[in-house]
Amino acid sequence: MTDYPEFASSVISELPEKGVISCSSPSNIALIKYWGKRPIQLPENASISFTLDSCKTTTDLSYRKRDVEGDDFDFELFFEGKPKPDFKPKIESFFERIYQYLPFLKNYAFTIHTTNTFPHSSGIASSASGMSALAYCLMQLEKRINPDISEAEFIQKSSFLARLGSGSACRSIEGPVTVWGEHSDIVGSSDAFAIPFPSPIHPNFENYQDTILLIDKGEKQVSSTVGHNLMHGHPFASKRFEQASGNISLLKEILTSGDLDAFIEVVESEALTLHAMMMTSLPYFILMKPNTLSVIQEIWEYRNTTGSKICFTLDAGANVHILYPDSEKKQVLEFITNKLVAYCQNGQYICDKIGLGAKLL
Ligand code: PMV
Repeated sequence: MTDYPEFASSVISELPEKGVISCSSPSNIALIKYWGKRPIQLPENASISFTLDSCKTTTDLSYRKRDVEGDDFDFELFFEGKPKPDFKPKIESFFERIYQYLPFLKNYAFTIHTTNTFPHSSGIASSASGMSALAYCLMQLEKRINPDISEAEFIQKSSFLARLGSGSACRSIEGPVTVWGEHSDIVGSSDAFAIPFPSPIHPNFENYQDTILLIDKGEKQVSSTVGHNLMHGHPFASKRFEQASGNISLLKEILTSGDLDAFIEVVESEALTLHAMMMTSLPYFILMKPNTLSVIQEIWEYRNTTGSKICFTLDAGANVHILYPDSEKKQVLEFITNKLVAYCQNGQYICDKIGLGAKLL
């Protein structure tokens, strides 16, 4: 019996001998942040994100049937064409977690080739795009084995499996806006997988832009796993989870009404709260850099003087995501090149926008 019997595989009759599956899946940026989890990879609060478009991982999964089913997982891993032994333990534990839902895993020898469109160690988390791309490839194989799986089951199970690789990865399978975590205001929401935002989204958010300023490309001082765990026994944890829940209700209204001033307020508050949780945990830590704060000041000044609807959000790192309506693209890009590039490491930034999720190539 599995924890989620609805995601168990149906009886397998014949396994294909060999083949290759290529998929891509994007990163995502949370508007309402997930920070704090319970086993296994279940969120303490619901989160909402924009799925990105061009920041993505492409994965080629080659599979070859083994003569006899093994008692271990057989896979080789290549990142940008080179063997990547240090990623193997993460994939190994991912396979262990999902084996009960994909029992054919031990029947195959896999070769996994993966590449990212964004620069290596840019501080952009590759776990969301990487894990969702791999989960989606594995689900394509499941579909070859069991072609009767419905489209809805396929998508839900892809998100469910991606979650077991990296929590936020479950929000990358679909787009342009997804919700992960059970919430009474969001019909169909679940802790086990993400769903597309269930109501019509206001046209103000169409093609919403996300320009990512690469402030610091250094390795993260604190992994997100450690960060999530520091929410256990955190003095403000229960208030934070309550606040996040209230913010989900607020953002739900905002995404429908298109109220950009309210959007700015809730999104910036969420970003700063995420970092406030890090600063008030034990041990405490700061992931923002001086240039992160300078950029935030510049954004506030620009907004005050121009009336722009630009705002920022932050991930678990020093980089700044600048969010703005498509209609302001030209002016904001001028502002970025004139003012903000100076705060970026080697002047680097990435122009992205909201996108639609994982794809079979
Ligand atoms: O998916 P994880 O375990 O890497 O956690 C991601 C946490 C944040 O990026 C900080 C917030 C979020 O909701 O994506």
